[in-house]
Parts: sequence; structure tokens; C-alpha cells
Amino acid sequence: MYVNVAVLKETQPHERRVALVPSVVAKLIKLGAKVHMQSGAGDAVKLSDTAFKDVAFIDDRKELVSDADVVLAVQPPALEVISAMKEGAILICFIYADKEPALVQRLLDKKITCFAMERAPRITRAQAMDALSSQSALAGYYAVQLGATHLARILPKITTAAGAIGPAKVLVMGLGVAGLEAIATAHRLGAVVEGYDVRPETQEQALSLGAKFVETGVDARGKGGYARELSAEEKTQVAAVLTRHIQQADLIITTAAIPGRPSPKLISKAQVAGMKAGAVIVDLSAEGGGNCEDTQPGETIQIGQVTIVAPLNVPSLLGEDASDLYAKNQYNLLALMMKDNIIKLDWGDEVIAKTALTHAGKLKSDAAKPEANPGRAIKDTSAKHAAKVA
Ligand SMILES: NC(=O)c1ccc[n+]([C@@H]2O[C@H](COP(=O)([O-])OP(=O)(O)OC[C@H]3O[C@@H](n4cnc5c(N)ncnc54)[C@H](O)[C@@H]3O)[C@@H](O)[C@H]2O)c1
Repeated sequence: MYVNVAVLKETQPHERRVALVPSVVAKLIKLGAKVHMQSGAGDAVKLSDTAFKDVAFIDDRKELVSDADVVLAVQPPALEVISAMKEGAILICFIYADKEPALVQRLLDKKITCFAMERAPRITRAQAMDALSSQSALAGYYAVQLGATHLARILPKITTAAGAIGPAKVLVMGLGVAGLEAIATAHRLGAVVEGYDVRPETQEQALSLGAKFVETGVDARGKGGYARELSAEEKTQVAAVLTRHIQQADLIITTAAIPGRPSPKLISKAQVAGMKAGAVIVDLSAEGGGNCEDTQPGETIQIGQVTIVAPLNVPSLLGEDASDLYAKNQYNLLALMMKDNIIKLDWGDEVIAKTALTHAGKLKSDAAKPEANPGRAIKDTSAKHAAKVA
């Protein structure tokens, strides 16, 4: 006996990642998997089919999933793929159910057990399965590289025979996983770095990575380690402190997010107008509408002398490493449910229970009902993409 695992080729525009890399195949086989992939699944990250040992390749995606016990992907698959799956099979990928009501309904109709990667709980035991974190860390790193290429100056201090050039000033706003990685990267590249967040515990984290912390006196800790929205008074208080730091920065990286809400606006149009000539903002929150009032998701624009870069799906731009980490995240999740060549779901396990979105034709209790949630209050920017600005 074995568990039939199928890996899809991504079809969404500009998605370069793949849910399985060669180094993870042997581990899956050890768990009791027989692995099938869609032909060309790794092409976008230069992983040819021949790079995958002990994997059977199938061209047709409906044929691929029709006999699978487990289907792995990065982005939500097409409806016809769900329809072609066996009733009761398992699907593991990012879903973002509030944006995919038709897909969720199809999962329910086909009684698919769907594990949505974005739902993995942010607890210590689940860190190895936390794809939001692995992908955000890469995005934080890349934001600094992207910002640096748009600056007409260097980040570190250098001394030449003709004279010295001082280090650039980098301000990172929003110090979750991406923001902290951006601080670490900018610091390694020799910039003078400042960090800001509304969760006070981030102060110590910023300092430990070599940044100064911008203290605004606002504590907006929300539920589950996330931030809450600021009141109008708090926004005024924050702006009064931040304006000076925004005006002094050469490069600003914003990453602020509040679960289920559009991105909070941290930089106003007036603040952009007061920035240094040649300064650059890299807005990593473009997917949720952006942290800057001038941001246009998916575009690189010029406002006066300031460049605002707002890429979408940044992890995909680092597809090779992003696929590697994502595949390991999925393997670690699968290892919780596969043993001795069979799948056994332990619903008493917090990670299994919370990551699941649908099971046996029912929505897991804390998931939003598809019909009750027509979509998020953000612009549909799927046609625009980071590739344009890379
Ligand atoms: N397994 C784990 O234990 C684990 C793993 C990853 C993350 N976490 C925790 O999960 C939480 C969320 O991390 P994330 O990277 O997903 O964050 P996120 O993407 O939800 O948000 C990014 C950052 O934006 C900040 N923010 C929101 N509104 C802001 C505002 N108005 N001004 C400035 N900053 C603002 C948030 O505080 C957060 O630090 C953090 O507490 C993090 O430490 C825990």
C-alpha cells in the first residue's frame, strides 16, 4: 500500500513556484508516498522533469489528480481540477478562502479535505509548516534588493581616494517576519536602519538585528500576536513622530498588515511629498492595497522625486528558494498525517485541526462561509505583477 501524491503545475499568471523540489521527493517516498507530477511542473524554476528521480510524470492535470489521495499545489487550483479529484481526497495549497467562494463550494461538494497553508497556526510546533513565514522572510530580503536597485546611491559607507560616502538610511515599517528580515538584510548591507511597529515587543527584535527602534508611544497589540487597527487619535500621534524619520530616509520598506483588513496606510501623500529627492519606497503590502497612499499595486511609479515600488507575489520572484522552503513546509505538514504508508488525520492535533479549511463536506468552524463573504475590500490586481518591476 502507498499514498498516491500528485503535484500540480502552477497556472496562475506569473506564478513561478512549484510545490515539490527534488530533495523532498525521497522524504515523501519514505513516508509511504508514490509521487506523480504534472509534466513541466518545475520548468519556471529551471527544474526539468529529469531532475526529479522516482517521480512519474503525467501531462493531463485532470488525469493526474483523478487517482490521487493527496494533491499538492502552491496557488488554488482551477475548479475543473477539484472536480476531477476523488471524493474525500486531500488538497494542500494556499487558498485564501474569502477570495475564492466558488472554489470553497466545490471543495465542499466534492467532500475534499483541504488544508489551507495560510491557516497554519503561528505556534512554535508549527513553525516548520508555516509557509506564510518562509515566504515572507524571502520577500523581506528581496525588498531590500529591489529598493537598492532603484536607488541612485549605495547602502554601505565606503571610503575612496576621492572621498567617503556615508551609509544610506533605511526605515522598515511593520516588523513581522518580512520586516525583520528586511532589517537584517539592510543592516548586513551596511545601511543605517530604523524599524517601527505598533507591537512593542518588536522593539527588542529590531534592536537585536542592529536597527534603532522608532518609539511612537502607541501599543496596538491585537489578537494572536497580530496588530489591531489604530484609532484616528493614534494615527495622528504616530504621524507626528514618523514624519521626521520618513523625511530622512533614503529607502523605506513597508510591510504592515492586519489580518482580514486592507493594508493600513502608514505614509500619507503629504509625507511622500516631503521625502528626500531620489528616495525609494518598497511597499510589500501591495497585495492588500499598500501601506502608502500613493501606492499603485503591481506598479513602479514616480511621485515627484520619489520612486514607489509595489510588487505583487514577491516570493514567486525568488521561485527557486521559495519553492524549496514551501515544499519543506508541505512535507512537514504531511508528516503529521502520513505514517506507515497510510493517512490518518488526528483531529485532536491543533495543527491539523486549525490548518484544515474543509472536511467531509463541511467548512471548519472558524472558516468564513463562502456565500457570506463576497470578497476582500481590496482592488483586484491580479493582472499586474511584480515581474514588471523586477
Ligand atoms: N510560529 C510562530 O510562533 C510565529 C511564526 C511567524 C509569525 N509569528 C508572529 O505572528 C505575528 C504576525 O507576523 P506576520 O509576519 O504574519 O505579520 P503581518 O504580516 O500580519 O504584519 C506585519 C507587521 O505589520 C505590523 N503592523 C500592523 N499595523 C501596523 C501599523 N499601523 N503600523 C506599523 N506596523 C503595523 C504588525 O504588527 C506586524 O508586525 C507576529 O507576532 C509574529 O511574531 C509567530
